[in-house]
Amino acid sequence: MNLKKFERYPLTFGPTHIEKLSRLTDHLGGKVELYAKREDCNSGLAYGGNKLRKLEYIIPDAIASNADTLVSIGGVQSNHTRMIAAVAAKIGFKCRLVQEAWVPHEDAVYDRVGNIMLSRIMGADVQMCDDGFDIGIRKSWEDAIADVKAKGGKPYPIPAGASVHKFGGLGYVGFAEEVRAQEAELGFKFDYIVVCTVTGSTHAGMLVGFAADGRARNVIGIDGSFTPAQTKAQVLEIARRTADLVELGQDLTADDVVLVEDYAYPAYGVPSEETKEAIRLAAKLEGMITDPVYEGKSMQGMIDLVKKGYFPEGSKVLYAHLGGAPALNGYAYAFRNG
Ligand SMILES: Cc1ncc(COP(=O)(O)O)c(C=O)c1O
Repeated sequence: MNLKKFERYPLTFGPTHIEKLSRLTDHLGGKVELYAKREDCNSGLAYGGNKLRKLEYIIPDAIASNADTLVSIGGVQSNHTRMIAAVAAKIGFKCRLVQEAWVPHEDAVYDRVGNIMLSRIMGADVQMCDDGFDIGIRKSWEDAIADVKAKGGKPYPIPAGASVHKFGGLGYVGFAEEVRAQEAELGFKFDYIVVCTVTGSTHAGMLVGFAADGRARNVIGIDGSFTPAQTKAQVLEIARRTADLVELGQDLTADDVVLVEDYAYPAYGVPSEETKEAIRLAAKLEGMITDPVYEGKSMQGMIDLVKKGYFPEGSKVLYAHLGGAPALNGYAYAFRNG
């Protein structure tokens, strides 16, 4: 496997911290040891998160293309578009963002606070759009790219979650290599890696990276999309493309994509009572903040899988905390009583 041949534009602090979740481990009976890799604290760029690892391999291509505007898309409270706005600011590009109506919401300020507020503060040209949730290529995004061109700009298109971009899977191949180096220092290996999966390139990159030491199926994706068939297919497609790029030398099949579908209900971006309970539990026991769209659902999934005995006794489980806390500001009503 060869990741080093790809240029990387540094956007993160370096390897992310791994911490033991001792109180959560004990609370759940102590038979499965839980750890978190803090991708949510990976950078000083606008609160950081998983997109920066992906963008480190995409930005060299954007700069080489002579573009002057990053054009991307997500929901109203998209973490991804916030990260695009931050990176555009950092590298001196303009930024055009399409924010689609992916989530029904209760809070009057949903489109004013959290991620979207940060993107506006960082100078992005934010365009609201009524279209609903879909992880695929969007017409609104293609229209925005054409509009930037029509106005004399030079767009560099980055799809939702940076996932179906040709280099979108590389960053999380690097995550697996980083974990292997940290395991050597810790003196043990993780048996499972838990990750929230929606547009797919985080999971896909990990799958390729961990396939190199036979652990592809130890990456447990927790679906947050509520359209799991489309998400699973997209993970496989990205994983295969990424495996070719890094010369993995193995064929990946649908069985390599482990995606648990049970926790995304009632809809993308809408937390169930159980998701809210998981968010409160991680916060009260560990001071660790997870969000109602992504990490709260993977936290709920991990907790429930521990309770159900999915992980054999003695397993060490690594929860990839991918960021997303700014979206909580759009859910003040759901947490009005804590
Ligand atoms: C905080 C957070 N967690 C998880 C994900 C899911 O990652 P991916 O879209 O690569 O599947 C995202 C982005 O979609 C995110 O912002």
